[in-house]
Amino acid sequence: MLKTHKLAIIGLGHVGSAVLARAIACQLAAEIVCIDIKPEVAHGEAVDATHSIACALTPNVHVYSGGFEEVKDADVIICAAGPSILPGGVMDRLTLAKENIAVIRSIMTEVTKYTREAVFIMITNPLDVTTHVAATEFGYPEGRLFGTGTTLETLRFKSILGAHYHVDPTDVQGYMLGEHGNSAFPAWSTVSIGGVPLEKLDDFFEHEEGFDCEKVGGEVVNTAYDVLNSKGWTNTGIAMGACRLAKAVLYDEHAVLPVSMPFSGEYGIEDVSLSLPSVIGKEGVLKRVPLPLPAEEEDALRKSAKSVKAVLRGNGV
Ligand code: 2OP
Repeated sequence: MLKTHKLAIIGLGHVGSAVLARAIACQLAAEIVCIDIKPEVAHGEAVDATHSIACALTPNVHVYSGGFEEVKDADVIICAAGPSILPGGVMDRLTLAKENIAVIRSIMTEVTKYTREAVFIMITNPLDVTTHVAATEFGYPEGRLFGTGTTLETLRFKSILGAHYHVDPTDVQGYMLGEHGNSAFPAWSTVSIGGVPLEKLDDFFEHEEGFDCEKVGGEVVNTAYDVLNSKGWTNTGIAMGACRLAKAVLYDEHAVLPVSMPFSGEYGIEDVSLSLPSVIGKEGVLKRVPLPLPAEEEDALRKSAKSVKAVLRGNGV
């Protein structure tokens, strides 16, 4: 399987280069092409990565740089192009909409000259806005293009709950849903650990006192700004999240992960992209899982829809 897989990474900044490093470490593909608006940056990242492979800790992955024509036989494309939010607290992801809608339109124009076969995983912010534009304006097959969405918030959520209950975060079941950004919310109705439902967790697992469920959603959202303001960007968590999704595609896993794609009437919501748990396999999103949500979680989803829609409509989408 490994021999035949080709991954294309578009945008080799902090995020794209972290995707590259983790894709090699996770042995995602035999061939990885790096594409960037600055060809010398793509070249530098590809050569640097090639040196890392000589360590023999991974298979001999063929990493190189090239133009958009290189996506023609890719199995998966991961797009991390475009500017990111800056530290300092004056921006949220939605601030980037105008600039990154233009970036994504230009990338999709190039990509679709060569393929609509590759599964396209969007990372560029504002994630739900760029995903919606890319998924609806370029004739890409439904489900074959999706955004990392609240996969990252869900990793952050699991990490916070795992630490609180002193368990491996991978044993925490549950999702953050809605917008990748400030209105993402914890779907508490989906949470369990080791089969124990939310309301009984304190009875079964060691934990700190003073845990306030109401605050966890805010903590998940704010931890992104903590990372951003501390190191200047976020890249490690999102790179691993994107690789997790790519692996679900390349291994046709039918993994259930929360990703963003256009809604078509689920919960009465349409004309906007948001995250819901979705079955991911070799053709991308094979199925959405519009699970029954309690009224307050549906309300939170509607709040996300309103916030992302306002930005889409405000930018003429
Ligand atoms: C993140 O949540 C900034 O969207 C980026 O890490």
